[in-house]
Amino acid sequence: MLELINKEKIPKHIAIIMDGNGRWAKERGKDRLFGHQHGVLSVREVVEGCVEAGVKNLTLYAFSTENWNRPENEVQGLMELLVTTIRKEAETLSKNGVRLYVIGDLESLPQACRNELDEAMSLTAGNTNLNLILALSYSAKWEIIEATKKIAACVKNGDFPIEAITDEIFKQNLTTANFPDPELMIRTSGEHRISNFLLYQLAYAELYFTHTHWPDFRKENLYEAILNYQNRERRFGKISEQLI
Ligand code: IPE
Ligand code: IPE
Ligand code: MG
Repeated sequence: MLELINKEKIPKHIAIIMDGNGRWAKERGKDRLFGHQHGVLSVREVVEGCVEAGVKNLTLYAFSTENWNRPENEVQGLMELLVTTIRKEAETLSKNGVRLYVIGDLESLPQACRNELDEAMSLTAGNTNLNLILALSYSAKWEIIEATKKIAACVKNGDFPIEAITDEIFKQNLTTANFPDPELMIRTSGEHRISNFLLYQLAYAELYFTHTHWPDFRKENLYEAILNYQNRERRFGKISEQLI
């Protein structure tokens, strides 16, 4: 399917809400963590798939602020899975030219996770094929409020007047300042909602929903989403005739 994709129209940034691990496990009579463990293979697939297709930025929603409210054993299992996965995958990421970034309220993560992430981020800091951005303990509302506080502090400090606050200034104060806005947002497992993910940045993203549960998601599913994206008309408020 990769050969059907138009290389001139590859989305610069794809964001994915990786959903359905729990349901996937339940269908197999297993516990939820079994589903999360199998989701790791899908992460590997989409990372490779993005490198092969020439996508430059991939954001994966791995853990939301709201996910802290899940049962304690699931939260702990997810944090442990994160540490072991990063440790295992860091070298492969490097070999594929992938640079790791993390966005979210990182201070709320266990120290062991933060250390592992810091190490992987410095190991991959020189890579340029793909930016892999993990959203961890992330909430878009939190991010927007943090940006507002930073901008308000600048105004208070006299760095710039209120009138100088623009979309550009706002973007620079979001956790995604280094990346272009996602052009394609994928959510697996049949839910049609955003769940507090990149609310500002998704303003003009194309949304793609699939019933496939995350642990079943493979490169071909990613390519199908990219093809679907390429067949849409992105009008940005204009009319079709203005686009040629
Ligand atoms: C997504 O799968 C993974 C995380 C939120 C960490 P879920 O765990 O939400 O799976 P479902 O939605 O319960 O099936
Ligand atoms: C969103 O999935 C968060 C992640 C995929 C990490 P959830 O499964 O937690 O979302 P809701 O609660 O169903 O909206
Ligand atoms: Mg879910």
